[in-house]
Amino acid sequence: MRRLRRDRLRPLLRESRLSTDDLIMPVFVDENISSPKEIPSMPGYFRFPIHDVADEVGKAMELGIRAFIFFGIPSHKDDVGSSAFDDDGVIQKTLRNVRKEHEDAVLITDVCLCEYTTHGHCGIVKGKEVLNDPTLPILGKIAVSHAKSGADIVAPSGMMDGMVKAIRSALDENGFESVAIMSYSAKYASSFYGPFREAAESEYAFGDRKSYQMDIHNGSEALREVKLDLKEGADIVMVKPALSYLDIIRRVKEAFNVPVAAYNVSGEYSMVKAAGRMGWLDEKEIAYEILTSIKRAGADLIITYHAKEIAEVL
Ligand code: PBG
Repeated sequence: MRRLRRDRLRPLLRESRLSTDDLIMPVFVDENISSPKEIPSMPGYFRFPIHDVADEVGKAMELGIRAFIFFGIPSHKDDVGSSAFDDDGVIQKTLRNVRKEHEDAVLITDVCLCEYTTHGHCGIVKGKEVLNDPTLPILGKIAVSHAKSGADIVAPSGMMDGMVKAIRSALDENGFESVAIMSYSAKYASSFYGPFREAAESEYAFGDRKSYQMDIHNGSEALREVKLDLKEGADIVMVKPALSYLDIIRRVKEAFNVPVAAYNVSGEYSMVKAAGRMGWLDEKEIAYEILTSIKRAGADLIITYHAKEIAEVL
């Protein structure tokens, strides 16, 4: 076996390769700030005011990154998340700005209520319950409003049953047949999202997300989730988090052979950063190895906060 491991030969025999085309860079846009603000639990990662986003996207595009997923921190929250579908909301304004300057950028939006609601849950709340069906039309409205502002792909992340179907119908009825859906199909109720909730101000006021996000102990259930989302019209399915769920990525890819995205989430980023800053691990090498393993497991696309650093290496 060692004959093929000589330096000169190794690159010829590589079975999986990371490329900047695989990467999706998350961008946090905060309507309440006027200059970029570092996220304390995600060293090196920032929230940007709306008017700085096109520049940030431009810098990443120079490194070869072409796809971006936007998360908004609105100035107004209420119990139904109405600023999420406001045509002058934080994401809508951002999309129009970015599109003006970057015709070629792939603009993806997270479609969810948690950043826009006072209670911080991903659906409409009654008492202590997160309601499924009353949430669906709102998700449809958000997706349409994002599409109107220039989104290429909408990515529902709230784990409401039927969300893909509701969004697909709403998009089609409004003339957005060509806007694709990347569904957070197998999204686990994970503790790896901790830093994101600080970044996006989406900490919930009560309870947890276990009544809608998946139980971490389950694998086959992910296949049922994916199957339903595909039936409802998802174009790309996502597994989230990534690193502790490589088995799920592999199973989904093998079972369905559709485009699979993996979300290398905030907690996965922060762990690497922390160990790197302590001098315990080589940050860039570790990030490269993690992202390669996600690719090797079967992901076609990877959403990662390491996007720019890795693009530099690539
Ligand atoms: C919103 C959403 C979350 C993430 C992406 N979209 C948070 C959550 O479900 O609590 C997490 C991303 C990350 O941790 O990097 N529903």
